[in-house]
Amino acid sequence: MSVTILGIESSCDDTSASVVDSGILLSLRIANQIVHREYGGVVPELASRAHHQNIIPVVDAALKDAAINLEDITAIAYTRGPGLMGALLVGSSFAKGLSMALNRPLIDINHLHAHILSVFIRTGAQGKSCPGFPFLCLLVSGGHTQLVIMKDHLNMEIIGETIDDAAGEAFDKCAKVMGLPYPGGPLIDKYANEGDPEAFRFQKANLKGLNFSFSGLKTSFLYFLRDRLKDNKEFVQQHLPDLCASVQYAIIESLMIKLKLAVKTTGIHEIAVVGGVSANSGLRKAVEQLSTAMHLKMYIPEARFATDNAAMIAVTGYYKYLNGQISQYNVSPAARYTRL
Ligand code: KG4
Ligand code: ZN
Repeated sequence: MSVTILGIESSCDDTSASVVDSGILLSLRIANQIVHREYGGVVPELASRAHHQNIIPVVDAALKDAAINLEDITAIAYTRGPGLMGALLVGSSFAKGLSMALNRPLIDINHLHAHILSVFIRTGAQGKSCPGFPFLCLLVSGGHTQLVIMKDHLNMEIIGETIDDAAGEAFDKCAKVMGLPYPGGPLIDKYANEGDPEAFRFQKANLKGLNFSFSGLKTSFLYFLRDRLKDNKEFVQQHLPDLCASVQYAIIESLMIKLKLAVKTTGIHEIAVVGGVSANSGLRKAVEQLSTAMHLKMYIPEARFATDNAAMIAVTGYYKYLNGQISQYNVSPAARYTRL
């Protein structure tokens, strides 16, 4: 019997809906909110309003793309958290209402868990290969940076995380001080391609163990620019590719040092790198090189499944459904829902 899951994602600034049939993607719609660009970051109130405007058209389009009707849905999976409370309320209220109206089970999803299971999204019956268990996952997004051992689809252990900023935040904050619009990560990636990663050196954290820290790098970048701009107001414009390449290199190096250490300490040779920052072309190359050097099997989601999307919510919903993990209607959204 086929299991058709409608996934709904509304944790931050993307409203997304997706239909996944027995683990295979049938449709994915994402409405990006451009309204935040001019503010240099996501404005929670505006995000909630945009989700409210987008949610019905996005779900409707995802169902049409999948060529299914509402009655064909087996269960509805939605993001419970972490994320912006107002944004989460829109998706969760919509999901609860639809679940009641259709009399179909509701499944609440941890957004971070879903990022990890993005490597299980299959786009065809043949599909790509998926990681075996246990595997090691580096989750790098705008709000989180974690190293996780996945024991099976639903059981995991966090073995390292950032003690301050997330990797995506480091990208976005450094981009902001260079005057680039939000989100700056993809733009740094683009300009870095034409720059020299060794043009400038920025301070990297030297934490013991598997935890990360990016606030020192961000401060060192800020002070460096402030000093250079004193002498030359055009410094950023004249050196944009080199600045982007150098800061990207520093962030990637910090991630790779810990990933390598995690492989050595756990002895696990299958690795996945997921979350918005895994779309970064420099990071993808670095992970490929590490995999070749250490004989690892590596898995990185396609770029459209790396950043926020509802396909990962639907796939996670599929595995929770198979395991009977159905939600009650009194479950509330959780902005800081980091327990995986
Ligand atoms: O996973 P995601 O879409 O949302 C969160 O759950 O946070 O990640 C968004 C983050 C942002 O910080 C964005 O700048 C970063 O991912 N990002 C990138 C790239 N694409 C998205 N960072 C570096 N290079 C990219 N190509
Ligand atoms: Zn995310």
